[in-house]
Amino acid sequence: MKSLNSILDLGVDELDGLIATAKDIIAHPEAYRESCKYKKLATLFYEPSTRTRLSFEAAMLELGGSVLGFASANSSSASKGESMADTAKIISCYADIMAIRHPMDGAPFVASRNASVPVINAGDGMHNHPTQTLADLLTISREMGRLHDLTIGLCGDLKFGRTVHSLIGAMSRYPGVEFVLISPPELRVPAYITQKLADDGIPFREVETMEEVMPELDVLYMTRVQKERFFNEADYIRLKDTYILDPDKLKTAKPDMAILHPLPRVNEISTKVDADPRAMYFEQVRNGRFVRMALISTLLEGLYED
Ligand code: NCD
Repeated sequence: MKSLNSILDLGVDELDGLIATAKDIIAHPEAYRESCKYKKLATLFYEPSTRTRLSFEAAMLELGGSVLGFASANSSSASKGESMADTAKIISCYADIMAIRHPMDGAPFVASRNASVPVINAGDGMHNHPTQTLADLLTISREMGRLHDLTIGLCGDLKFGRTVHSLIGAMSRYPGVEFVLISPPELRVPAYITQKLADDGIPFREVETMEEVMPELDVLYMTRVQKERFFNEADYIRLKDTYILDPDKLKTAKPDMAILHPLPRVNEISTKVDADPRAMYFEQVRNGRFVRMALISTLLEGLYED
């Protein structure tokens, strides 16, 4: 039974397969209405979420299945001291698949080692967020018509932003992809990621302003400064408004550049950008639901047996 802990758990063929299934769901939603009839998804959210949890739940309901779970650590037995391993065994008795968000890196992995049903990582600490990456890939594929030969700018909190880590992992497997990492020195991508890019010979650059690279980008992936992962509030306040994308800065961008953001947005994209046809972040939310439908139905079909 396969779980999804990291985007690297999926081969390129599997990624492409999920994207193709999501596109088929968009084209023929009626064909999937009973795909997960009588199946149950448990959502175990130990950290705040609006989109991801509701997106998983909406996805399962649209597949004809049902959902159960909790939306905060306080309302689960974790508050009584239950381990992740035990919780995973318990939930396996109630549900056919589970999605877990947790503030600790690796918690969904521990769950997947102890569960007897597939576990999906719905975001763990500052580590990974593979289903957000699937939403990002579907959006890029639909908007740009390809996942290869793209220059991708990632901007903001590249240190703590788990969506960035997963997206780099996925896109670095497509040919002709080049990364431009835009951050203040304090919020650079962790060294284990840049080291891997260097080892694999994948082109990347680290810069400090978006203006200097804007004309080159095919995709601009904006991120929020991750307040909850800072040790010290003064650093957060100093760094939080480093980047604010506005219509003026977009003047030098390509006419077909796609602007993505995993959301929630704080200040890093002016609301004036929302009306720009290049703004894809709300479409990205919609795509998240389709691709989670593709993932849940594929995992429950047992296509990915290991
Ligand atoms: C992201 C996350 O939780 O990492 N949100 C999401 O799931 N779309 C990004 C963020 O919180 O900044």
